[in-house]
Amino acid sequence: MTFKGLIPFEQKKVSLPPQYWKFGIINNGSYVIDPLLHWGCFFLGYTDEYGIVDYVSNIVKSNKPEIAENIQYDENYYLNHISFKLADKLYNITNGYKSFYALSGSDANEGAIKLASAYHKYKGNTRKKIVSLLNSYHGSTMLTSSIGSDNLLNDPFYTLEPYQNILRIRREFDIKDIEWDDVACFVVETCSYGNGMVPFSKEFWEKLQYIQKEYDVLIIIDDIFFGGGKTGNYVGWKHLPITPDIFTMGKAITGGYFPLSITLYNQKVDEALPKDFIWDHGYTYSFSLSGIASAYRYLEILEEHKLLDRYNIIIKEAINIFSKYSKILNSFGLTFLIETSRGPKLYIIPLTADDKYFEILRNNLCG
Ligand SMILES: Cc1ncc(COP(=O)(O)O)c(C=O)c1O
Repeated sequence: MTFKGLIPFEQKKVSLPPQYWKFGIINNGSYVIDPLLHWGCFFLGYTDEYGIVDYVSNIVKSNKPEIAENIQYDENYYLNHISFKLADKLYNITNGYKSFYALSGSDANEGAIKLASAYHKYKGNTRKKIVSLLNSYHGSTMLTSSIGSDNLLNDPFYTLEPYQNILRIRREFDIKDIEWDDVACFVVETCSYGNGMVPFSKEFWEKLQYIQKEYDVLIIIDDIFFGGGKTGNYVGWKHLPITPDIFTMGKAITGGYFPLSITLYNQKVDEALPKDFIWDHGYTYSFSLSGIASAYRYLEILEEHKLLDRYNIIIKEAINIFSKYSKILNSFGLTFLIETSRGPKLYIIPLTADDKYFEILRNNLCG
């Protein structure tokens, strides 16, 4: 069976949706692990055993339908309580970062950069430049592709041109080589998984700390891939020797079933914005009730079931198995780059990995 209508080329042949189990598909009766947990989103597994979908469904049914912030149009409309509750929860977890929501990681990153620009504008700066790293990935919109997409996208601009004011540099950059006074922000992933997943060195983060402090360059950490618990903390960058001014989250933060991304910003950014600041970003689905409710529930589930406490046991077991049946090329938190006969393969070990998961992982690795 082929379909022709979805995206600009003929669809791959498809069959009925495959049977699936908690952590992957069942192929002719054999259990197969989805190593990426579907692009890193289904970090608690596929089968929704904590009932996120039912929770969201109840919230959606019992609240005024809501997708956007209510503008000056009608004073009788207002945001639902849960939008504020999620923001407050995030504020407490992160020790004081405020947040705004979007639907994709790309959108959250665009918002982060625009916010950095707003910060400089209200500080009276004219800074235009964005610094990012070669071999990084930040999304597929024009701005985010321009910042970094070379290791995952082939030709994102077609006949168009990337955004101009971007300096793409090597991670071994020399601070002296750049005019930092003209740089608004430095955008960097928590760990660049599209680039062999080599974690950044302590010296690298020290250089960022230095330009943050000395030149007021805002540090934006793109935590979209590693946030949600993959490093043992809800905030993926938490154990890195840096504190960003702005960071973004997405993917796993809703358990995977509903879309939401978040841009979080610190007090320094908040204080620079005037009381009458107008945020020209987002709107139609900025407060998607389903995404907000699922992100809220996901956080509650992590707490209620103490899932992050499982991190050390899971990581130990994963290291045991990968070292015995394969070779670990690189790792960051629960994400492992593994040598296989078909080249390097990325595995994300779910927080809910159980004995069956590890048994099947062993079987899958043995081929
Ligand atoms: C590090 C990182 N940043 C940004 C994005 C873009 O997110 P989205 O695909 O939701 O726009 C991704 C998605 O893979 C990502 O891994």
